[in-house]
Amino acid sequence: MERWLPILNTALIVISGLSVLVGYVAIRRHRIEVHRTAMLTGTVFAALFLVVYVLRYFLLGTKLYTGEGWVRIVYLFILISHTILATALGPLVLVTLARALRRQFSRHRAIARITLPIWLYVAVTGWIIYAMLYGL
Ligand code: HEM
Repeated sequence: MERWLPILNTALIVISGLSVLVGYVAIRRHRIEVHRTAMLTGTVFAALFLVVYVLRYFLLGTKLYTGEGWVRIVYLFILISHTILATALGPLVLVTLARALRRQFSRHRAIARITLPIWLYVAVTGWIIYAMLYGL
């Protein structure tokens, strides 16, 4: 479990990030249905990620980073920014989705342009943190 839980966790957040990218490309091409499906898929995977993340925290605790010197500073910067933005992401995604599902598309678009880059940053830094922690 110690080995596959972090892998599962990282896979979920990467799939979530990829779905959001597909959704973005789709809306730029005015493919609303594809955009909708990809974004809802991305949200489901992000929610699954959150469940596994909490599970992992209670079952395994956290793994401390052992690197030293400047890589440690880089690691802490990535970890702290990732954590703060990941916390903000929850409410942002809910409001973004709510506006889309209520068909308030121009308001949806306004907030989505903030939500999307944050989402991608959280997904990419999640992957980097995993790679740094587990030495990939
Ligand atoms: C949390 C999930 C979602 C995110 C992050 C998201 C993201 C975005 C972004 C970034 C844009 C602006 C694209 C641009 O012009 O630069 C956009 C536009 C749009 N989205 Fe979403 N979206 C999400 C969910 C949905 C859903 C579920 C629908 C349902 C149909 C939807 C429908 C639309 C439509 C119609 C537009 C075009 C709005 C316009 O240009 O006036 N989105 N979305």
